[in-house]
Amino acid sequence: MKEIPENFTPGIHNYDYEKEYLQPRLNAENLVNVSGRKLESLSGKWRFCADLYDTCRRQGWFRQERINLEGCEVPLDFDWESHEEIIVPSSWNLIKPQLYYFEGFGVYTRTFKYSPQEKGEHLLLHFEGAAYSATVFLNGKIIGTHDGASTPFNVDITDIVKSDNRIIVSVDARRSPFRIPMENTDWFNYGGIYRDVYLVSLPPAYIKDWFVRLDPKNTSVILADVYITDDVEAYGKIFIEINELGIRQEIQILDGRGEAKINAPLELWSPENPKLYDINLSYNNGSCVDSIKDRIGFKTITTKGQDILLNGKKIFLKGVCVHEDHFTLGKTTGEEIIRQTIRDLKEMNGNYLRLAHYPHDPRFARIADEEGVLLWEEIPVYWAIAFDNQETYDDAENQLSELILRDRNRASVIIWSIGNENADTDSRLSFMSSLARKARELDPSRLVSAACLVKHEKLLIEDRLAEHLDVIGINEYYGWYDPDFDKLQKLLENSNPAKPVLICEFGGDARLGHHGTETELWTEDKQKRIYEQQIETFKKCPYIAGTTPWILYDFRCPRRFNRYQEGFNRKGLIDADRITRKPSFYVMQEFYKTVNN
Ligand code: GCU
Repeated sequence: MKEIPENFTPGIHNYDYEKEYLQPRLNAENLVNVSGRKLESLSGKWRFCADLYDTCRRQGWFRQERINLEGCEVPLDFDWESHEEIIVPSSWNLIKPQLYYFEGFGVYTRTFKYSPQEKGEHLLLHFEGAAYSATVFLNGKIIGTHDGASTPFNVDITDIVKSDNRIIVSVDARRSPFRIPMENTDWFNYGGIYRDVYLVSLPPAYIKDWFVRLDPKNTSVILADVYITDDVEAYGKIFIEINELGIRQEIQILDGRGEAKINAPLELWSPENPKLYDINLSYNNGSCVDSIKDRIGFKTITTKGQDILLNGKKIFLKGVCVHEDHFTLGKTTGEEIIRQTIRDLKEMNGNYLRLAHYPHDPRFARIADEEGVLLWEEIPVYWAIAFDNQETYDDAENQLSELILRDRNRASVIIWSIGNENADTDSRLSFMSSLARKARELDPSRLVSAACLVKHEKLLIEDRLAEHLDVIGINEYYGWYDPDFDKLQKLLENSNPAKPVLICEFGGDARLGHHGTETELWTEDKQKRIYEQQIETFKKCPYIAGTTPWILYDFRCPRRFNRYQEGFNRKGLIDADRITRKPSFYVMQEFYKTVNN
């Protein structure tokens, strides 16, 4: 046991202060599905300070009081109600110039009042997203830490909440080689509580999670799994009602869970007919009732040889990639921004979006359900991850689980992507094949893919991960990073994969308004020529099941410094203003118009 000197002062001498905050973990195991529930918003005005040295956690601000036990006022290094105001949700980098590149800790705080609505009720504190890690304190207690910038987390605060409460959140936006993603990415590292925060009141026994979908083998059978969290042993029954289908199915709960197969001829969901049904789940254990109302669609997504089948019919995915990056809001988004993205996709005659490279806001899949847009959703196992590090794997698997648990009731989601552009090493193969297994364990009803790199020397689509995928995603930039465009044709002719292939990135940079010859880099003319050549080549390849050019909008990127980029990646089909189209947009529009599904 290390000898502790008498003058040891924890707030300044404590090297391993962080270990106090490693438990409890807020992760997929304790995640309650809040979809379809009444949410009380805690978004709005909070107090904020940039905490570059992590002083809040080093000194334990959460437990400090202005008046000590002897009744004397003591000096504190924080002053909650004098810290600057910040709006939650927001990306702190864009709220003022001094924070543009800030990647340290940010400390948020606010008060809230609470009075229980029913005896024995549970109160859940729910975050839709905080980048990158968040340590949450309530009324002088540590209530947990979450890792992962783009997935939800929540925690039962019933035993700590009072009538008057103070919440403190220390958000760590530092990049690290052992996280998902690691410290080098081709997008901007926005920080903060950038998605909504809610309180959710739950009865003493409640529905923790549910998953309702079509049996992939029989489109007239609905499969339902339900999970209960209960103070006493979980028993009782759940009713699933879909009135439009005349369904009122009773499910017996045993050891906290129940399942059912329900015969129901129904209208399938598709881009042409995004049919959604009102669904009610009500749980009753004799002493309390919990109910959830949601809207869900039913579809199957499968493969057959080199084809992707939606509801048993071959489909070509006419898509485009999007980042969660907005010129003035950063990673924070909103319903109108999402709806405009979908309008831009539909103007391009598209039916599909690759939400790169991390889980997007939960409203995206909900709005895509309504609008009939198919989605590829992805976790940021991006480029060079620490594939031989167990903690890194745990982070990846947890983010994948949180994403799938959040969105698996959304009809629009067809593909779970477990990564992007990773070198084909043994440790990566082991890491990502485990992620593929985890995705299928949580959701056998969807396809698993990843954006893979081609073997450029052999000009071959070849990746050992492919055997663990349902669909092979390929990123290629012939005509841009590799100027020899003829290689694309050779690559496609040399390859004959046994599974569907999606070209999930291609394109090139163009600064809006910069014109020149078709061979001049950074011009709209060169970008347009690349798109024309790519499409000409795709049309000759029988096994491409869909395309998503990189990318719909120019986006912020702190790796891009030449005079045309100026801190942005300019591969957008539309400028970062999300309004002005480049000529390549119309090349894609014309191509997708000619594709018959
Ligand atoms: C890569 C990567 C993207 C990146 C793009 C580019 O394929 O997946 O995240 O932005 O290429 O180089 O522009």
